[in-house]
Amino acid sequence: MTSSSDRSGASANSISKPVIEFRGVEYRLADGSQLLANFHLAIESGETMVLLGRSGAGKTTALKLINRLLEPTAGQVFVEGRGTLEWDPIALRRHIGYVIQETGLFPHYTVEENIGVTPRLEGWDRARIRHRAEELLALVGLDPRAYLERYPHELSGGQRQRVGLARALAADPPVLLMDEPFGALDPLTRVEVRQEFKQLQSRLQKTVVIVTHDIAEAVDLGTRIALLEAGEIRSVHAAGKFLQSDEPLAAAYVAQIRALQPEGEAS
Ligand SMILES: Nc1ncnc2c1ncn2[C@@H]1O[C@H](COP(=O)(O)OP(=O)(O)OP(=O)(O)O)[C@@H](O)[C@H]1O
Ligand SMILES: [Mg+2]
Repeated sequence: MTSSSDRSGASANSISKPVIEFRGVEYRLADGSQLLANFHLAIESGETMVLLGRSGAGKTTALKLINRLLEPTAGQVFVEGRGTLEWDPIALRRHIGYVIQETGLFPHYTVEENIGVTPRLEGWDRARIRHRAEELLALVGLDPRAYLERYPHELSGGQRQRVGLARALAADPPVLLMDEPFGALDPLTRVEVRQEFKQLQSRLQKTVVIVTHDIAEAVDLGTRIALLEAGEIRSVHAAGKFLQSDEPLAAAYVAQIRALQPEGEAS
């Protein structure tokens, strides 16, 4: 009846179909270097899958394969059961909110215009876009009156990142890809915005793939955590059990990151 029940894939026979699935994906550059190999991962409806791994492990590459900014050189990525190459790329990207690592706001657009990019493509009128932009700015903790008319260069890095999050949510896409979405925020704001996002996610039940280097964030936001190393998934863990995992790589990861973080932050 509703589109969300369609999206969950929970049909009468109750076999749930993943919203996103990597099947034997490989991604190589033209020079032959391999950025992803042997990549298998199924992400269920309403799940928040965290990609964790050191710099250069292939996390951003994996996200870009989902919204077809990149195309696999072998294997397939499925979104809602359909291979990304079978989707119309524009329709696919409207369906998927994307918070990119460097925020990617259009510099010559105001905050309101940036948030309104996808709604405009969807044919929303000005009043509806303004209302949505106000609502989303409030949600990410920015006073709409102060920020709607500003340009990205008139914002701090953390404010730009929050506008980037608002923009990704604008047309209410069922799938969200978030590449270190809170990376430029100070620690206090970061925890606040994370809590806001968590509440929002418990209400909206979007399917989320999020990259973070912050293990506390991974455990707090994730339903599962996929550990990536050198372009491959080494293991996938239930987020609630990650810190106690005795799987060697996960344990090593937790120990290393704990050693780098202030006391108590990862517990
Ligand atoms: N267009 C490209 N040309 C050459 N190398 C690339 C290209 N895109 C990515 N790479 C390389 O592929 C590897 C994976 O990159 P990717 O951006 O996916 O890493 P990441 O896990 O997101 O890292 P980070 O945590 O630093 O953001 C890196 O070694 C990167 O230098
Ligand atoms: Mg990256």
